[in-house]
Amino acid sequence: APDIDVKAVKADLDQLQSIADANGGNRAHGQPGYKASVDFIKGKLDQAGFTTQVQEFDNNGAKGYNLVADWPGGDESKTVMTGAHLDSVDAGPGINDNGSGSAGILEVALAVAKSDFKPAKHLRFGWWGDEEDGMVGSKHYVDSLAQGDRSKIDSYLNFDMIGSPNPGYFVYDDDARLEKVFKDWYATKNIATEPETEGDGRSDHASFKDAGIPVGGLFSGADYIKTEAQAKAWGGTAGKAFDACYHQSCDTSKNIDDTALDNNSDAIANALWQLSS
Ligand code: PHE
Ligand code: CA
Ligand code: ZN
Ligand code: ZN
Ligand code: ZN
Repeated sequence: APDIDVKAVKADLDQLQSIADANGGNRAHGQPGYKASVDFIKGKLDQAGFTTQVQEFDNNGAKGYNLVADWPGGDESKTVMTGAHLDSVDAGPGINDNGSGSAGILEVALAVAKSDFKPAKHLRFGWWGDEEDGMVGSKHYVDSLAQGDRSKIDSYLNFDMIGSPNPGYFVYDDDARLEKVFKDWYATKNIATEPETEGDGRSDHASFKDAGIPVGGLFSGADYIKTEAQAKAWGGTAGKAFDACYHQSCDTSKNIDDTALDNNSDAIANALWQLSS
C-alpha cells in the first residue's frame, strides 16, 4: 500500500478549519459549515475519478447530507466500505473530531486513484452527516439499503478521531479478522495497541454492526485519561485526557498529533489494500 503523506492530510485539515472560520466557527449539522465541508471533499473526489452521490436526510428540522464515493471496478458483491463522520459539534470546528478521520480517508481514497489501484473487491467511501446527534446520517444510509445490498458489504471500517493530541492507539475489537489486519501493521512498526473500549456503540460503525455487517476501525482517544502505563507505551502525558479539547472550541487544527495522524492514515491505507486485494 502507498505511504500516505501526512502533510496532505494536514492541508485538508487546514481547509476544514478555514471552512469553520468562515461559517461561524463550526461545521455542525444544519449549519453552513457542514455543507461547505461536503462540497470540499466531494470536489476532490470528483476530480480524482470517483463516482459520488450526496444522500439527503432530515433531522432536528434541518437537512443533513451523507457523501458516498465509489471507486469504479471490483466485485460489488464484496464491497469494502470505509467511513468517517464529517460533522462537528456546535461548539467548535471539529478538527480532531472528526476532521482527522474525514481527511485521513480522503487521502487514502486519493491514493487509490493516484495509484490506479484495481482491487478484487469494490471500494466505497462514506462521509456521514449528523453523527453528533446519534449517528443519524450513517443510520439513514444503512436503512436506505435493501437487505440484498447490505449483504454485499463485506466489511465496514470506521475512523472517528485518529489524531488526538495526547494519543493512544486503539483498534476496534468487534471483528477478529479486521482487528488483526490493523494489529499486524502496528506490530511491524513496533507500536503497541489496545482494544478499543471507549467508543463501543458510540460512532457510525454501530449503524453497520447493528445490521450484521463486520466492522473494524481505529481511535486515538477522546475524554478518557491516559494512564501511566499508556504514557510509557505511547509517550505523551499521563493523567491527561487523550483529547482535552474534545467537543470544545479548542478542537482546532492545532489539536492534532502529527505522528498519530500519520501512523493511522498509513494503517488505513494498508488495511484497505490488504482487505480488498
Ligand atoms: N463518536 C464520538 C464523537 O463523535 C467519538 C468517539 C469515537 C468516542 C469513538 C469514543 C469512541 O463524539
Ligand atoms: Ca505516512
Ligand atoms: Zn464528537
Ligand atoms: Zn466523532
Ligand atoms: Zn470494542
